[in-house]
Amino acid sequence: MEALLCKRLGDPTSSFESPIELSRNHPIPKLDSPTAVRVKVKATSLNYGTYLQIQGKYQEKHSLPFIPGSDYAGIVDAVGPSVSKFKVGDYVCAFVPVGSYATFIVQDQSQLFEVPKGCDLVAAAGLPIAFVTSHLTLVHRANLTSSQACPPFSYLLLVLLVLGAAGGVGLAAVQIGKICGAVVIAVARGAEKVQLLKSLGVDHVVDLMNQNVTASVKEFLKSRNLKGVDVLYDPVGGNLAKETMKLLNWGAQILVIGFASGEIPIIPTNIILVKNWTVHGFYWGSYIIHQPAVLEDSVRKLFSWMEKGLITVHVSHTYSLSEANLAFSAIKDRKAMGKVMIVFDDKGNASSKL
Ligand SMILES: NC(=O)c1ccc[n+]([C@@H]2O[C@H](COP(=O)([O-])OP(=O)(O)OC[C@H]3O[C@@H](n4cnc5c(N)ncnc54)[C@H](OP(=O)(O)O)[C@@H]3O)[C@@H](O)[C@H]2O)c1
Repeated sequence: MEALLCKRLGDPTSSFESPIELSRNHPIPKLDSPTAVRVKVKATSLNYGTYLQIQGKYQEKHSLPFIPGSDYAGIVDAVGPSVSKFKVGDYVCAFVPVGSYATFIVQDQSQLFEVPKGCDLVAAAGLPIAFVTSHLTLVHRANLTSSQACPPFSYLLLVLLVLGAAGGVGLAAVQIGKICGAVVIAVARGAEKVQLLKSLGVDHVVDLMNQNVTASVKEFLKSRNLKGVDVLYDPVGGNLAKETMKLLNWGAQILVIGFASGEIPIIPTNIILVKNWTVHGFYWGSYIIHQPAVLEDSVRKLFSWMEKGLITVHVSHTYSLSEANLAFSAIKDRKAMGKVMIVFDDKGNASSKL
């Protein structure tokens, strides 16, 4: 089978001594327990975390060589004798620490999620990490609910500010924020991203290419008679996080998702105290260990929203496994709008929806 191997740590976009290598005759993994399931991978995500992992900058380290890739969707190819949840031909998706950049992957049946009939497998492959991260932080941790949608009473409206809003987790967060009835402010760079965010019904978009974030958000809040921001969704960190914290209300919540800027911001605890802020750290990988049922409920809820057309997994770029270096470049060069996907068998740009 085909598999992408990370043989040493380094920048996967580099054409000189690339750390990644495509193996075309990697052994197909065998079922390793009675409840094991082998899946033929149809598509797998290019997550920012995977880009960091190959550079050795991620919180979890894996011994070399390893096959990267942490979420995917595909078709059940073989099942162990005690498998009760799935049969050959079923559509499934899953999280995995590493290993999905390959034609086949083996996981226990308890780690797989059923993909509803009729759902595009490329979209399903883009859902686990990006959408579950945004859903669990906004709904499970920050307690956003659709009951917050009370348009006549603007003092009840909750203001959500999403940084990196056109990226993988950001685009999921703005859609989930709208479902929960929040006033959603999105921050992104460039006209194309702004246009995409507006098409999703975002209330206000700040274009970092030509606007000052605090001035633009303040002006918008004033125009809507709103005081400040109640929830900050932050996958970027750095100066942008520091600046936007000045916009937070008393009692606000900060969702610490990631540090795409490369800089980890410091939040002074005296300010957290005085302003009664709540800071939520979130990592999907540890939910698999500590609260797998919460993760499962989230995947089910998200697929039900997909089926109703409430959320869309927007895929801006698709590549084959042999083009993985280009896929990593799309992330590095901040070209991704929604998800960058690696697709097996066929390829072509797509905006996927149930
Ligand atoms: N905590 C968790 O469980 C979890 C789960 C998934 C992802 N994450 C983290 O969340 C972050 C975003 O992930 P993602 O998959 O959404 O990535 P992505 O699709 O590449 O989006 C990142 C966004 O960050 C913005 N950005 C600002 N400065 C940047 C820089 N110097 N380099 C690259 N991007 C920059 C970009 O927006 P503009 O170009 O529009 O400014 C970009 O759209 C990563 O740090 C990732 O590790 C965490």
